[in-house]
Amino acid sequence: MSVNIAVLGAQWGDEGKGKIVDLLSPNFSIVARYQGGHNAGHTIWVNGKKFVLKLIPSGILHPGVICVLGNGMVIDPDALFNEVMLLADNGVDVTDRILISDRAHVILPYHRDLDLLEEQRREKKIGTTKRGIGPCYEDKIARRGIRICDLKNLSEGNEAFTRLFENIVRHNAQYGESGMDPSAMAKSLREAAQWMRPFVRDTSKYLYEAIAADKSIMFEGAQGTLLDIDHGTYPYVTSSNATAGGVANGLGIGPTSIHGVLGIVKAYATRVGEGPMPTELPNEIGNRMRQKGEEFGAVTGRPRRCGWYDVVAVRYAARVNGLDALGITKLDVLDDFEDLQVCTAYRYEGRTIHEMPADTTELAKCEPILEWMPGWGESTRGITEFENLPSRAQIYIRRLAACSGVPAKIIGNGQDRNDFIVRKDVDVPVLNWMNELSRGT
Ligand code: IMP
Repeated sequence: MSVNIAVLGAQWGDEGKGKIVDLLSPNFSIVARYQGGHNAGHTIWVNGKKFVLKLIPSGILHPGVICVLGNGMVIDPDALFNEVMLLADNGVDVTDRILISDRAHVILPYHRDLDLLEEQRREKKIGTTKRGIGPCYEDKIARRGIRICDLKNLSEGNEAFTRLFENIVRHNAQYGESGMDPSAMAKSLREAAQWMRPFVRDTSKYLYEAIAADKSIMFEGAQGTLLDIDHGTYPYVTSSNATAGGVANGLGIGPTSIHGVLGIVKAYATRVGEGPMPTELPNEIGNRMRQKGEEFGAVTGRPRRCGWYDVVAVRYAARVNGLDALGITKLDVLDDFEDLQVCTAYRYEGRTIHEMPADTTELAKCEPILEWMPGWGESTRGITEFENLPSRAQIYIRRLAACSGVPAKIIGNGQDRNDFIVRKDVDVPVLNWMNELSRGT
């Protein structure tokens, strides 16, 4: 029986999932994304060339891998078109290789508008990516969204058009005349439906049949556990379920088809946007991490907030996702740090706590309890075996894994696809096939 695994973020997003999904992809027939939209930016370096994928799963760079955009996603047709074109310009043909769920929701111009306007109105900003993600999911839950399957016949008189019309009326009533014309919008959406037509289908059925035919599937998460709408640092979160629970809903598969969950973390922590981050380093050390790790948002270019590895956060992520193992990325960013710290607990109102509080005003008051660890002071780039890492780097990795309560199976030590180490000494039955990962081009 083939093994299907989920690869998802176990911190605040930007953990380097794109790179890991890309390098694991040759072992899978299908890579399927289950939530989010073009707020995500999955950066992959291949032979010195940078690809930033926002909607299309990171498996697309491997010929033969089919990429599914699931019903749990929110899709901006223009953003998708631009991404398809960008890939084509770089010699990546998506014909017969991407499948878009007919049940995914569509991000429309008024969603982008609302994202901006609502963020302007908020006294406490969330720091959204301003791509219309939240308002689109709001419409989905409020049962007034427009789905991919609606686009082909969207014209005056039909039910979906009435929804579109009413949404624009509501938008205008709330924020003043927007000048948006429902008929013109419907026309451009019908055009989008035309080019999308070959890609659109019932992807739940497709995956069901693929599973029955014993094809292997990787489920790709976007954002991260602490940005999850239910389990993240609410309200400073995105509007979808980035956690493992989102896989079944966001793709229309049974949870029994998910055999393993790999949580991706950085060897330190970053966050982009607002909201509490207990280990943040708003100082020279944080700046060094940002420069060395090129910690600037792949979508918005915003500088990411950097800080020490937060065990409390990762242990929480391990619990809510049922993580089998960790993938620890960007170890090399710490290569020339003399001193390292790991946050093992929080101090809250004089007490030591080991769990993330639900209330973000409490989380904002939590101070990290830090454990000092020595840096290794030499380059880890190009090292391909765990035993060949500097001994202090090995100790650091072992410590992160032990404190987080999850074994570290794979380590990233550079930007390129081939910069990784698989720990063969770490036995995770559902992931041991990774011991044979090849270093291709
Ligand atoms: P939204 O998803 O655009 O609504 O943004 C909500 C929050 O999630 C903001 O703090 C964003 O910065 C953050 N966010 C959304 N997508 C990503 C991502 O792919 N990586 C990191 N942060 C993200």
